Amino acid sequence: MTFIRNRWYVAAWDGEVGAAPLGRKICDENIVLYRKLDGTVVALRDACPHRLLPLSMGIREGDALRCRYHGLKIGADGTPDEMPLRNDPINKKVCVPVYPVTERHRFIWVWIGDAEKADVELVPDLWPCSAEGWTFDGGYTHVKCDYRLFVDNLMDLTHETYVHSTSIGQIELMESPLETRVEGDRVILSRWMPDVEPPPFWRTFLGKEGRVNRWQICEFIEPCSVIIDVGVSPVDAGDTLESHDSGVRGFVIDSMTPETETSCHYFWGMARNFATNDHGVTLRMKDQQNIVFGEDVEVLEAQQRSIAENPDMRLRVFNIDAGGAHARRVIERLMADG
Ligand code: FES
Ligand SMILES: [Fe+2]
Repeated sequence: MTFIRNRWYVAAWDGEVGAAPLGRKICDENIVLYRKLDGTVVALRDACPHRLLPLSMGIREGDALRCRYHGLKIGADGTPDEMPLRNDPINKKVCVPVYPVTERHRFIWVWIGDAEKADVELVPDLWPCSAEGWTFDGGYTHVKCDYRLFVDNLMDLTHETYVHSTSIGQIELMESPLETRVEGDRVILSRWMPDVEPPPFWRTFLGKEGRVNRWQICEFIEPCSVIIDVGVSPVDAGDTLESHDSGVRGFVIDSMTPETETSCHYFWGMARNFATNDHGVTLRMKDQQNIVFGEDVEVLEAQQRSIAENPDMRLRVFNIDAGGAHARRVIERLMADG
């Protein structure tokens, strides 16, 4: 196994789950998600307990799902409300697993592992996605790679120069030192660029001329998220790596939920504390991110194929891979804890 059990994983964006059932494989488990009439989300194993037809092919009836094969009606608690022959006595022993599910930071989270250990306080703290004074939006991409390759990618900013040469790559980024540190289960990779000219994007939103301090701080949050704190503030504001709220600030949000050992669900977005009511900015950022991440996806899927085709070779760790290597060590340690 390559992922940590007993964790909350992003299963979907809040807007993806409605009345119609949505089937999605999370950590090798087929799950069906839908909203009940009261708006809360249900997550069940996506297999009818009769002949295993996916319940996501079923028909909504009230808060229940009716299987599209022989009509077994499964309630939100995973047990039958009605048998295929309506006169047959209801057999409550015939049931499907129910997953703990919660909604937070614009995402639907499911708990993989032992249901009795699910505690909503353990949902990863993606605070910029739901904090007052911040705007957050993004998208979803299915990616055919091990989610850990994605963590490696996001914890390594040096790839920007080549993978993103036509979009965001900038030589000056390579010149600023990167610092990696581990704090418990968190891995933080930071780059502080003091007294630089702001790139055009940031100058526009900062709304004034002059030199700035600029930062990029990647943080791995187990089990599978990376958030990247980016922004600029005027030099004379005196911001520091620890505290930098005097200018404009955004978080690139990435959560890579394992689907199988070699594929993942990539939930990406951008949270920002500037132009928060400007819907056009939201849409343009989303389009831009989609293009940039498309460049990563192309590389990651090719990397995954190459790994499969070269079983006699292994992944090497260079200095630039320190962030990803630390994150993988955290994952391994927590996997061993069960
Ligand atoms: S397979 Fe679902 S009712 Fe038969
Ligand atoms: Fe990238």
